[in-house]
Amino acid sequence: MKHYILNNGIKIPALGFGVFLIEDKKICIESVVTAIQKGYRLIDTASVYMNEREVGEGIKVSGINREEIFVTSKLWLQDYGYEKTKKAIDKTLQRLQLDYLDMYLQHHNFTDNLGSWKAMEEVCREGKIKAIGVCNYPIHALKELLAVAEIKPVVNQVECNPVFQQKELHGFLKENDIYLESWAPLGHGNKELLSDLRLSRIADKYGKETAQIILRWHIQEGKIAIPKSTTPSRIQSNFDIWDFELTEEEMNVIRSIDTNKRMGPDPDDKEYKKRIASYVVDI
Ligand SMILES: NC(=O)c1ccc[n+]([C@@H]2O[C@H](COP(=O)([O-])OP(=O)(O)OC[C@H]3O[C@@H](n4cnc5c(N)ncnc54)[C@H](OP(=O)(O)O)[C@@H]3O)[C@@H](O)[C@H]2O)c1
Repeated sequence: MKHYILNNGIKIPALGFGVFLIEDKKICIESVVTAIQKGYRLIDTASVYMNEREVGEGIKVSGINREEIFVTSKLWLQDYGYEKTKKAIDKTLQRLQLDYLDMYLQHHNFTDNLGSWKAMEEVCREGKIKAIGVCNYPIHALKELLAVAEIKPVVNQVECNPVFQQKELHGFLKENDIYLESWAPLGHGNKELLSDLRLSRIADKYGKETAQIILRWHIQEGKIAIPKSTTPSRIQSNFDIWDFELTEEEMNVIRSIDTNKRMGPDPDDKEYKKRIASYVVDI
């Protein structure tokens, strides 16, 4: 397993396990246990995924020490603002049955993100959160945050896959010593992407699956990837990417797949923002 050192000195696994849309409680617990037992040491949840309790349960059941697992959760929009953020962090910790989080992220660039950031900085100084960061921040929002932040974000978790590589944003993040963490690193399981001939030719050479080639590409680009699966064989194969290395030529082939077009929604789109703002999580 490869690790990176974040800008606050904390070590983060380069590959993690995402749990978005694992709604069934039993399946969520089982998937987290399977992932941890197969070697994953980073679990990415969020209050809006409504499965923090199951993630906490899975961590307990896995039999692996909590200290060995990097746990991430996220602030949902209804909890933005200084006071509400502090309460939301405590509730997340309660649901996870943990006394600290390894990383806590703002789920979006949203109203009073700076008030929330101040609260996150304070909780980080108290030690209840080891690292703080953001998701879905475009460059302009990062600049605004960096201008006032006392603690710099350690990651920006954004949509990223071979079709939408976020080259400009990644360049900006590298300049600022912030890691890009790829959500939907497999394009949300997109069939066209996973059967792309350029990827399958590389996969055949190494006796691997295209998903493994994609995940290896994320890591060799210096990004953190957090694939989700509830299929035990895929949980395993998505983790088996440490025994080969893509050549620079192969990296360039994958870089050329970029269309700079999102598969998911544009987090900066006003209509999208309005829509998600009305999504209140009852947890
Ligand atoms: N911050 C944000 O705004 C944000 C947004 C979206 C996601 N995320 C995070 O990123 C994580 C990953 O994103 P995601 O779940 O949307 O997409 P993803 O990991 O790119 O893809 C997951 C989908 O691909 C399938 N899959 C997984 N491994 C596969 C393989 N080896 N071969 C073929 N299909 C495979 C899964 O199916 P099965 O489960 O049926 O195997 C699932 O349908 C999330 O779980 C969440 O933690 C964050």
